[in-house]
Amino acid sequence: MDTSPPAPRKRVHIKTYGCQMNVYDSERMADALAPDGYDTTDDAATADLVLINTCHIREKASEKLYSDLGRLRDMKAERTDGASVTIAVAGCVAQAEGPEIIRRAPVVDLVVGPQSYHRLPELVARSRSAAPPVGEDQLAADFEPRAKFDLLPKQRRAVGPTAFLTVQEGCDKFCAFCVVPYTRGAEFSRPVADIEAEARRLAESGVREITLLGQNVNAYHADGAEGPVGLAALMRRLADIPGVERLRYTTSHPNDMTDALIAAHAEIPAVMPYLHLPVQSGSDRILKAMNRRHTADSYLRLVERLRAARPDLALSGDFIVGFPGETEADFEATLDMVRTVTYAGAFSFKYSRRPGTPAASAAEQVPESVKAERLARLNALLEDQRQAFNRSKIGTVMPILFERQGRHPGQLIGRSPWLQSVWTEAPETLMGQIAQVEITDVGPNSLVGRRVDTSPQSDAAA
Ligand code: SAH
Ligand code: SF4
Ligand code: F3S
Repeated sequence: MDTSPPAPRKRVHIKTYGCQMNVYDSERMADALAPDGYDTTDDAATADLVLINTCHIREKASEKLYSDLGRLRDMKAERTDGASVTIAVAGCVAQAEGPEIIRRAPVVDLVVGPQSYHRLPELVARSRSAAPPVGEDQLAADFEPRAKFDLLPKQRRAVGPTAFLTVQEGCDKFCAFCVVPYTRGAEFSRPVADIEAEARRLAESGVREITLLGQNVNAYHADGAEGPVGLAALMRRLADIPGVERLRYTTSHPNDMTDALIAAHAEIPAVMPYLHLPVQSGSDRILKAMNRRHTADSYLRLVERLRAARPDLALSGDFIVGFPGETEADFEATLDMVRTVTYAGAFSFKYSRRPGTPAASAAEQVPESVKAERLARLNALLEDQRQAFNRSKIGTVMPILFERQGRHPGQLIGRSPWLQSVWTEAPETLMGQIAQVEITDVGPNSLVGRRVDTSPQSDAAA
């Protein structure tokens, strides 16, 4: 039996930028710090430890770190206990620019890259000790994902009815614009048994919908007892876990969309009919320059096959406008692609030059004003498609997973199979459960629905 006294309570404030994997990582860092007495707080001004989980993907995302650090420096100066506050920087900027952060921002006590999070408690304790490390010793940025996943605590704190679960990390694709292969390292897939165990614990704590994460999640491959396991086989196993009602996965590369995975959309009812499948551009010339290794046509054929397997499948995408050398004709090809596919949602970005990536040194950079103008045109089209998709659901009945309180008493907000937010009058007993809802109206960012009382779940709860 452990007879040591419980650690005194302390508070950690975590600020998260970037993708869903950073959200997952922030939760896991909080899990790792909990045994040392850290509770999470929304208020940086009362925290003992402030952790900034950064994103390096575009210049704007990276710059936010230094403005945050400026504010934290002022906060430390103003607080009477300021000297005892620890400032830590995690995430992809930490990995890419660790030594520079330490040089440029003396307020930072420690820097920890994405593959070193299992070492966070030890690093925090050392930096709060009588002889804190200095210089390069404040930095942990090795690439060892296996150790990280093995050493992070097994138990996660309760997260509600939906959760992220990283199954794959890193990228070997090297798209010419992208920093991820340098910040997250080479592709790594977690063992099937570890993922199953984590999913089981999530389901036992009330999670009904799990989103499997990876920078190239559909490149997932591991060895199972009966041979190789890809993402489709992994999802089949996870769908068998009692309580796991819904599965999603993100982000996929078109070239790793195997026949088995396409079939999984037809065959596994838990796999939701909504897929994020970035294409970046509709121009073959630009796709080639981006090193995407697929064409506009091969992407369109893939979309056809997915829709044949699952006719109600809706797609979301990522787009970059103003990649070096992009002409008006190339951009028109992207608009054509969007018109042909029709997306239910999308993220579109102006190309941002990232240090160390091949495209950053390309001669034909597109002027900012042209990028801005193209982005506005693309966004207008994507927004029309999103609204049309939402309106197409009016009058239909769909299962909604209730995940949070609405603004008014008696109102719950849930998630549709297509990741839409749906407002419904519903008793609190339905929180964390799935019930049938008829969509009656759409707002700018959400749907409104009415519970249909024939569903077995709502009968049981009534
Ligand atoms: N496969 C990854 C993609 C990460 S980046 C994943 O797991 O999500 C997310 C999106 O950011 C990319 O699909 C791309 O559209 C965009 N992006 C990446 N690098 C960019 C850059 N240098 N400039 C603008 N957008 C970029
Ligand atoms: Fe970046 Fe391309 Fe890898 Fe996605 S597939 S993380 S865009 S290099
Ligand atoms: Fe950003 Fe790193 Fe995710 S660069 S998008 S936080 S993988």
